[in-house]
Amino acid sequence: MVCLRVLAVLASACSALANPLIKRASLQHITNSSISNPTNVGFYLYAPDNVNVTTKPGIVVAIHYCTGTAQAYYSGSPYATLAEQYGFIVIYPSSPHEGTCWDVSSKATLSHNGGGDSNAIAGMVNWTVAKYNADTEKIFVTGSSSGAMMTNVLVATYPEMFKAGIVYSGVAAGCFASPSGGVDAWNYTCQIGEVTATPEGWADIVRDMDPGYNGTRPKMQIYHGTADTALYPNNYNETIKQWAGVFDYDYTKPLKTEVDTPQTNYTRYTFGPRLQGIYAEGVGHTVPIQGSEDMKFFGFA
Ligand SMILES: *[C@@H]1O[C@H](CO)[C@@H](O)[C@H](O)[C@H]1NC(C)=O
Ligand SMILES: *[C@@H]1O[C@H](CO)[C@@H](O)[C@H](O)[C@H]1NC(C)=O
Ligand SMILES: *[C@@H]1O[C@H](CO)[C@@H](O)[C@H](O)[C@H]1NC(C)=O
Ligand SMILES: *[C@@H]1O[C@H](CO)[C@@H](O)[C@H](O)[C@H]1NC(C)=O
Ligand SMILES: *[C@@H]1O[C@H](CO)[C@@H](O)[C@H](O)[C@H]1NC(C)=O
Ligand SMILES: *[C@@H]1O[C@H](CO)[C@@H](O)[C@H](O)[C@H]1NC(C)=O
Ligand SMILES: *[C@@H]1O[C@H](CO)[C@@H](O)[C@H](O)[C@H]1NC(C)=O
Repeated sequence: MVCLRVLAVLASACSALANPLIKRASLQHITNSSISNPTNVGFYLYAPDNVNVTTKPGIVVAIHYCTGTAQAYYSGSPYATLAEQYGFIVIYPSSPHEGTCWDVSSKATLSHNGGGDSNAIAGMVNWTVAKYNADTEKIFVTGSSSGAMMTNVLVATYPEMFKAGIVYSGVAAGCFASPSGGVDAWNYTCQIGEVTATPEGWADIVRDMDPGYNGTRPKMQIYHGTADTALYPNNYNETIKQWAGVFDYDYTKPLKTEVDTPQTNYTRYTFGPRLQGIYAEGVGHTVPIQGSEDMKFFGFA
């Protein structure tokens, strides 16, 4: 074929045309001052070249871990490549805090429109929806570690905005809450899995983050490794209790248990139509992103 005969210097462009799974667009840094961004979170966006207002694209918000950046998550996670395949836009927020963890501790970030990092990220989603005429039924959020904590916080604070969340090795929404109001404060008790509550207690914490809300909430998928020594495995159980409490499911009785799913040594528990937990035997911090599974859960595949 023609591709085989082009000069070596053109080979990568040529294979990009032949292979839809290559990032053809580039990561954009959005600095538009009309976006409400109370904590100065970096706003990076990946839109495949063929996305435009007529296609009503979906949006995936993909949130990095501590020490990470938007650029690192763009390079190191599969979402931009998957965006080429499925035609959605990826928003990569970048933490403004030293050490680049997310603020999942202050009252501001744990409140709907409270002026914290969660508010800043929701503002980016709003702007992207308007700019690309995105499909508001296809807005999703995911993240790893600190980004997984923020994923739980975003679905709790903006339940009307997101249709689903996928959490790779995080903690329950509100588990890092700082009674003294610390912004981006570390919470050792939560880290080691010793912040516990009943399902109803955890559900109240979620509801308090957006007290007026009574609509449908995002469906959730929670991944955690049994050998996680950064965010101890009991945080998996507490997160499952939290969303089981919200959805009124019995966290002690999964409706379905699938061993070696989606891969060897992972067990997938289905608690109801809106909650799955995937407990990964022998896996540490963080559980590797399961891109093709994510596409199924978000409904793109
Ligand atoms: C900023 O975003 C607004 C809203 O989408 C748009 O009208 C405006 O043109 C943008 N400004 C720049 C400088 O891109
Ligand atoms: C926008 O997308 C539609 C549908 O895929 C396509 O027909 C159209 O050519 C695109 N427009 C631009 C300006 O790329
Ligand atoms: C998003 O847009 C809606 C509708 O314009 C507005 O009511 C809401 O306050 C916005 N939220 C954020 C976080 O910007
Ligand atoms: C850690 O978070 C819990 C709430 O989950 C809170 O009760 C506790 O005081 C926090 N610890 C610190 C040191 O802020
Ligand atoms: C939900 O809240 C809205 C606005 O406050 C109200 O109109 C509606 O009746 C409530 N629905 C339920 C099921 O409580
Ligand atoms: C947490 O959940 C897993 C999976 O259901 C279970 O094997 C484990 O015993 C639970 N741990 C605790 C401390 O309840
Ligand atoms: C699954 O777990 C067993 C027992 O810990 C281990 O020996 C095996 O290597 C694991 N398999 C894979 C594919 O990770």
